[in-house]
Amino acid sequence: MSGTLVQDVLAGAVAHDDSRDPFPVRGIDHVRFHVGNARQAAHWYASAFGMCNAAYRGPETGHRDACEYLLVSGAASFVVAGEARPGTEIGRHVAAHGDCVVDLALDVPDVDAAIRHARDRGATVLEEPHDVSDEHGTVRLAALAAHGDTRHTLVDRSRYDGPFLPGWTAMPNRFHGKPAHHPQHYFEAVDHCVGNLVLGRHGGPGVQHIALVTRDIVRTVRAMTEMGVEFLDTPDGYYDTLTDGVGETRVPLETLRELRILADRDEHGYLLRIFTKPVQDRPTVFFELVERHGSLDFGEKNLKALFDAIAREQARARWW
Ligand code: FE2
Repeated sequence: MSGTLVQDVLAGAVAHDDSRDPFPVRGIDHVRFHVGNARQAAHWYASAFGMCNAAYRGPETGHRDACEYLLVSGAASFVVAGEARPGTEIGRHVAAHGDCVVDLALDVPDVDAAIRHARDRGATVLEEPHDVSDEHGTVRLAALAAHGDTRHTLVDRSRYDGPFLPGWTAMPNRFHGKPAHHPQHYFEAVDHCVGNLVLGRHGGPGVQHIALVTRDIVRTVRAMTEMGVEFLDTPDGYYDTLTDGVGETRVPLETLRELRILADRDEHGYLLRIFTKPVQDRPTVFFELVERHGSLDFGEKNLKALFDAIAREQARARWW
């Protein structure tokens, strides 16, 4: 396998022919979170997830209602948004759903064609295609409804070279929570996102977990654990028989056992993965870390055990 192919597989990308795709997507443009206190949430994603605060908009920059922080790690971009005054849509959304994902924004080559195709197939269009511009150029945007109150914003940024979107200001990393010995960045990209129709604490359907690609799951888990991120436990017996089905991986079995990292193999290769516990007091969304070595698996085999473990975590997180 060539170096280029390995890189593609590690980033979770699957080669395909755009010209035959009625709804081509270049990738996940960003994941947008609505939270109660964006400054503190952004600081936490910077310190615990090793992300860099690259851009900002808020009252200081003429965006009156909300403070919004862009956090990046490789190609993974999160927007963490919280209201800056009472009575905003963000505040209503957080009251209804807690700190959660509101938007899986997709990078598309042709917003208008994508909206036409989606509308023909019965999608609900929340925002018609429109241009937004500033001194850095023009972005074309539209939005489709997804499950519940979540949405897919469609973004064509091919005519734009600003720090993020029009109205945003570049923000050389203002949070410095990471110890100096930690990896430069932990994640390469968003691997996949999974929705759930029955998220109890979220209050309706929404995004259940976001998987992030890491090149070194051992280093990343150690660094995140040191910064206070908790991971789901795996029964010790899992490791007694692991090599029977999965075979050798680049990580010694004893290290997988120590860190409770899962391993799966399909006909294409293997992957290593681990799930965080929900990262909010009101559990809504959690994260998966994936180190891919050829496998295109998305975890179907582990889903039952995973959902049971999450349900136990959610039952544990009660208000007294
Ligand atoms: Fe997953």
